Amino acid sequence: MGKLRELEAGINREIVEVWHHLHQNPELSLQEYKTADYIEQALRQIGGLDRIKRVGQTGLWVELKGTAPRQGQEEIVIALRADMDALPIQERNDLPFKSNVPGVMHACGHDVHTSALLGAVRVLEKYRDQIPGTVWFFFQPAEETLQGALTFLADPEIDFGKLRAIAGAHVGNAEAGKIRLREGPTLASADLLRIKITGQSAHAASPNNSRDPIVAAAHLIVQIQTLVSREVKPTEPAVLSLCRIEGGTKDNIIAESVLIEGTLRTVNKETRSYLLDAIKRLGEGIALGLRVSFEFEVKDGSLPLIGDPGVTKVAEAAGRKIFGAENIEFASHAEMGGEDFAFFTDKIPGTFISLGAKSKNGAEPQMHSPGFYTDEETVRTGILIYSGFVLEYFGVDF
Ligand code: NI
Repeated sequence: MGKLRELEAGINREIVEVWHHLHQNPELSLQEYKTADYIEQALRQIGGLDRIKRVGQTGLWVELKGTAPRQGQEEIVIALRADMDALPIQERNDLPFKSNVPGVMHACGHDVHTSALLGAVRVLEKYRDQIPGTVWFFFQPAEETLQGALTFLADPEIDFGKLRAIAGAHVGNAEAGKIRLREGPTLASADLLRIKITGQSAHAASPNNSRDPIVAAAHLIVQIQTLVSREVKPTEPAVLSLCRIEGGTKDNIIAESVLIEGTLRTVNKETRSYLLDAIKRLGEGIALGLRVSFEFEVKDGSLPLIGDPGVTKVAEAAGRKIFGAENIEFASHAEMGGEDFAFFTDKIPGTFISLGAKSKNGAEPQMHSPGFYTDEETVRTGILIYSGFVLEYFGVDF
């Protein structure tokens, strides 16, 4: 145990500098070229890694093969993941390392995740001769647009069938120095919904010549609001919010079409597909009844993120050893935010670890806001729990 803390302490200042550098130089989703170059360079300086490979243009797949004797024949592989992209937000903080890029900011802590994972590579490399298996590190682009995890899953060289477990980490609202875990539904699926109702335009004074899409849209919106309240179990979290509507051109012309956009969030796949089907059912019913046409498109959906109980217990055991039981929290419910880490946990037993980012006496960090900040301690927490998770999984004393 002393050893892990010592190793982390030895690299902490350098990794905090990495964090500051990334925070100053944020890049948007799928444009993380400088970030990937910078991290790749740092990885190449470590030496002794078995693989450093680009995934897509800006992702990095790193492999570390432990050399300790294995129990059986089969190679056991587990993975750690961090995301690297920033957001189109103008930073409002007055920090010595504030963003140098106008209109772009690490406002979701992905700079913390990336630097902490780099720290974990450096720490775990020192344990190579004690690890009886293989560790993959995924430096993933484009989480904010839900494209990055899929880039990894689509890479034919990465054999996901080999992976036994995966852990991801994200800054969260717990106090710095603490971690928060959850088994089961952790984050929601996030689907963008796009509904188009097309009728027939006419003079406002001759509604009989029209098929009015605005009236149809009004019916549909009200009916859709009954889905969560009347058709989903009261104990089952689900959010169906219609957030944008557009239709018509003038006060005396009946509109030709109406566009409605919104989001659906659920924490299990069955509820998700039930509600998507139900929206279609209502839309088609209204289209038939009111003589309009109904088109329904679901875009960029991510899946619900489900924490595997066994893998989460590994993170808990590691966390207790490193931080003490008093610094391990369990989330009481799933959050309705979405994460593309769910594409991994859909295929591989995984857990999503929340790294406390709230400074003592500070306000809770507001993700995706221009004033978002992270306590420096969060970087340390990230390095320690990423590393501790792997060591605990492989039964290495730390
Ligand atoms: Ni994020």
